[in-house]
Formats: sequence, structure tokens, C-alpha cells
Amino acid sequence: MHSIVELTINGDRREVGVPAHYTLLETLRYALALTGSKQGCDKGDCGACTVLLDGQPVLSCITPVHEAVGREILTVEGLARPGQLHPLQDAFERFGAAQCGFCTPGMLMSAAALLAENAEPSRDDIRRALAGNLCRCTGYTKIIDAIEDAARVLRAEPAAAADGPPPIVAPVLAPATPPKM
Ligand code: FES
Ligand code: FES
Repeated sequence: MHSIVELTINGDRREVGVPAHYTLLETLRYALALTGSKQGCDKGDCGACTVLLDGQPVLSCITPVHEAVGREILTVEGLARPGQLHPLQDAFERFGAAQCGFCTPGMLMSAAALLAENAEPSRDDIRRALAGNLCRCTGYTKIIDAIEDAARVLRAEPAAAADGPPPIVAPVLAPATPPKM
């Protein structure tokens, strides 16, 4: 049995017909072709599927899609700012914080939620925020380095924005998103 759900994803209202049992992750990937959120374990263990619901990280593989109705969904595709990478994406690139990249979208979303609440997290704060995000490749050090640096960049932004050029308005998808797997 299918049902129609109306979702707000990365600021856009989307109406989609999905099987009633679909999770949010299945809806994103298979009904909406938003494949940035990864399907790793598919049972709530790895964090690869992390998205934000009303600013809070959730595991979309164990979140029924109906729980996302009426809430703001942010996926990695919506993280980049108009015309530029999000500072977290830029820092992951500069610090070599992604290797295979499979964990990266989930890491970015957990980190984005952290930095929205804590502008100057300690390394332990960052470790705690990433506790549900597993990485098989990096050993985590580069990821923590990158998030620390992104926090520094974000703290410096208000001053920079006052002097800087006006924002570019062309939308972009997140280049840090790994290819469809
Ligand atoms: S795919 Fe959701 S926690 Fe692993
Ligand atoms: S970069 Fe490969 S799992 Fe994290």
C-alpha cells in the first residue's frame, strides 16, 4: 500500500508517493533520488544515513518517513551554501578527512548539528557528537581536526561577512557527497 507524504527537504516542499512502510532514508534515496545520505548498516548502527530533523541528527534508516512529515529535513545535499561549500565540507576537503567517503555525509550532518549548538566545541565535544558515526578508514583524527577548523572558520564569519562580497546566489549540491553506491 502506498501513501502520499508531503515533506520539507532542504527548504523545498516535496510531495511523494511511497510504500507505507518506507523509512525516511528509503524515501530520500529511492523516491526522491537524494542519494547523499548513505545506506550503510540499515539498522541504526553506523550513522551513514544521518540527516537533521528540525536541526537534530536522526538515523534516517530507522526513522519512518511519516515521522518526518511537518518537520524540516536537512540532508547533505542542502548543506552547501549558495555558490560555495559549507565550511565543514571545505575543511573535510582541506584536512583529508574523507577517504572512501561513505561515512562523510553522516559525519557532516552530525557535525553541522553540533556547531549549530556549540560554536567552540572541545575535541571531546566533537568525539561525543560523532559517537554514532562510524568510519572504517580515517582513524577519526583528521575528521576531528576538520571540524575544529570549520568551527574556527564559522566563528570568524560574521566579521568576514561584513567586509566581504555579497553572497553568490546560484544553488549548488554538495560536492563532498560521494558518488551513488
Ligand atoms: S545506515 Fe542508518 S545507521 Fe547505518
Ligand atoms: S572515510 Fe571511509 S568510512 Fe569514513
